[in-house]
Amino acid sequence: MKYNLIIADDDADFGHKAKTAFYDALNGINRPKVILPTGNTPAPFYKDLRESGDCPSFTYIALDEYTGLMEDDKRLFKKWLAQEILDPLEIKVRWTFNSAANPACEIEKMRALFFKNGHADVAILGIGENGHVGFNEPGSPFNESVRHVRLTEETRKANMAYWGEQYGVMPTHALTLGIADLIESKKTILLARGAAKAEILQRALHGEITTDVPASYLQRQENVTIVADRAAAQLLPH
Ligand code: GLP
Repeated sequence: MKYNLIIADDDADFGHKAKTAFYDALNGINRPKVILPTGNTPAPFYKDLRESGDCPSFTYIALDEYTGLMEDDKRLFKKWLAQEILDPLEIKVRWTFNSAANPACEIEKMRALFFKNGHADVAILGIGENGHVGFNEPGSPFNESVRHVRLTEETRKANMAYWGEQYGVMPTHALTLGIADLIESKKTILLARGAAKAEILQRALHGEITTDVPASYLQRQENVTIVADRAAAQLLPH
């Protein structure tokens, strides 16, 4: 598989290199549409973007969102991203999911936006330790678009760590862009930090292309850039 590998020395370097890769990806695109992930991985990247103050404007496309939460719940991914990056950068156009609404309607809404405006120009993604992207867990078909999915216990546990138990029971379901939507993205930047991601990153990029490892769809994508710290990149050939 051909991909551009960018290795970072520490968190600050990771943030800076991810931002540079993002700006390169945006270069020359008029009114770009961008998928952004939540999670711990992108934190240094968002910090660098906030502090640089020269980020071009873009349309934000939600990658995923828990369902069944009230619209004022602190755990909503759209609130997380609003706080961390979208409000500071004054990104106004946001394609998000309404967690409290009927998921079937939300799926239709997002599909209609893609149909009318086209897919993402740049997808920025993280990777779960089981190879998930967004909330496309192992077994997710590569040809499915926006979906309502049940979260695995592993993912619920990993997500619990973001919030702590005082926020109540973790949602059991979520909306996610499907792999078919991610495939339509013109460019992809996959972010990975920490030794816990090393093995799955290697499997996703160099192992069998299989729905058991959702991120392995990337092996068939053009224009893929991996930004990883040394710990996450340790099993990759470079
Ligand atoms: C979460 C999110 C993904 C994210 C991944 C990795 O469950 N739904 O979008 O990329 O898991 O998270 P982290 O960066 O915290 O390791």
